[in-house]
Amino acid sequence: MIKVAPSLLASDYAAFGDALEKVISSGADALHYDVMDGTFVPAITFGQGLLSRLSTRGFPIDAHLMTIHPEKHIDSFADAGARCITVHQEAAGFALCDILRRIRARGCLAGVSVKPFTSVDAISDCLELCDLVLIMTVEPGKGGQKLIPFTLEKVKRLRGLCRERGLDPIIEVDGGINTETAPLAVNAGANMLVAGSAFFKAEDPAAFVRTLKQI
Ligand code: DX5
Ligand code: ZN
Repeated sequence: MIKVAPSLLASDYAAFGDALEKVISSGADALHYDVMDGTFVPAITFGQGLLSRLSTRGFPIDAHLMTIHPEKHIDSFADAGARCITVHQEAAGFALCDILRRIRARGCLAGVSVKPFTSVDAISDCLELCDLVLIMTVEPGKGGQKLIPFTLEKVKRLRGLCRERGLDPIIEVDGGINTETAPLAVNAGANMLVAGSAFFKAEDPAAFVRTLKQI
């Protein structure tokens, strides 16, 4: 079954509560929460405070940390109520396995993300510790970009690596996902789709989610 996680990044920033209700009533599986620190990526978005308000609704929140020093933020995002915490391999470096263990120890799903030009081999040593692997299908930093086709080859390769090792993490794709690109990502092996612009621009968000889940 394909899971869908609309990204808050593309919502109306004057009405985050309404955006969350829209996501819940659409039948989506989680809210994707893009944390940008102005250093790992140029923009700055939102942090633990807003997440702790939104998480009181009891709906799963998938925190995508586009930050340097992700180890500094694990406890505060876990305290804020994130269901899943995803850190970037490029930011975690040699500490990646430790960080993933710490996320699990806090009772959250542990995720790792790779940017388009980072090979999936860079996370191979820590694959056993991943509940989720997020393959960025655009350069992180902003919404509304076009999916970069070669990133889907990485999804395929990752699916193969996991199969060889008897692992079955969630494979999530993020960036440029819409009704045209989603089938390509699912065929490559993704089973969780993040959609920002396409979800919030959809005339009928529930129909949009149904279409993606039926692929
Ligand atoms: C980009 C973010 C994405 C973004 C996707 O850095 O990680 O989650 O919201 O937006 P769309 O779906 O518009 O490409
Ligand atoms: Zn994201």
